[in-house]
Amino acid sequence: MFKSNKIYIKILLFFFILINSSVSEEIKIPEHDWSFKGITGKFDRSSLQRGYQVYTEVCSSCHSMSLLSYRNLGEKGGPEFSVEQVKAIAANFEVIDGPNNDGEMFTRPGRPSDKFVSPYPNVQAAMAANGGAYPPDMSVLVKARKGGADYIYSVLTGYTEPPTNFDLEEGVYYNRYMEGNKIKMSNPLSDDLVSYSDGTKATEAQMAKDVTTFLTWAAEPHLEARHKLGFKVIIFLIILSILVYFSMRRLWLRIDSKE
Ligand code: HEC
Repeated sequence: MFKSNKIYIKILLFFFILINSSVSEEIKIPEHDWSFKGITGKFDRSSLQRGYQVYTEVCSSCHSMSLLSYRNLGEKGGPEFSVEQVKAIAANFEVIDGPNNDGEMFTRPGRPSDKFVSPYPNVQAAMAANGGAYPPDMSVLVKARKGGADYIYSVLTGYTEPPTNFDLEEGVYYNRYMEGNKIKMSNPLSDDLVSYSDGTKATEAQMAKDVTTFLTWAAEPHLEARHKLGFKVIIFLIILSILVYFSMRRLWLRIDSKE
């Protein structure tokens, strides 16, 4: 009896250590107060527009967003650029089209219906240009990563000096929030890297916030509509419960008075 108890305790101890060690190794992603959080959450429209600017001017040279079309930028619940603005944005890009009547591909200015132009023709080319690391497509990255928006923001603001004796190979950078604290992307942001037309100061943290907001919308373009519907459903359920409660009371009142 005593002996088997000992084994039991040993097994428990083993699992305790196992769980404890895996918990302590996990990197804690700090949570932030996003305007789109919660059941009445909405995107900050100007932040979305600024975020698009950061994506285009900075991130799009490496990261594709192949599921988005330029016309999405004008849709309700998104950055809501005007029709004219969307046309102008699309026209800034060169799109490969064709083949023409001679069987040849050609380039033309983009149209709102075109998909976002990708920086590389294929994954291999992207990896070859980035020291063997693939810059992931950003269309749904926020949804694909644990921690979502908080994770993206943390990675962007998580570049610090490595601790002494931390081994970093060529082309690898220290980041507090990446697994193993290593990332093969140098810090893409620095203060005043872009210039915002609305007068907002382009600090590193501000750009990280704006581009994260933009990427969250891209991954969940119907978030606002979903929140609105959820809110209506809750109001409906509250009213329904009140009605049910009073009709129950009336019904029982009659039965009670018969007794
Ligand atoms: C010079 C090319 C380059 C630019 C510019 C760039 N990235 Fe990256 N990014 C990469 C590469 C390569 C990786 C893959 C790193 C790895 O796997 O270690 C990466 C990885 C990431 C990751 C981590 C993804 C994951 O798998 O969890 C995030 C988040 C990210 N980039 C966001 C951005 C944002 C936002 C911008 C623009 C502000 C940007 N990047 C600009 C090359 C780039």
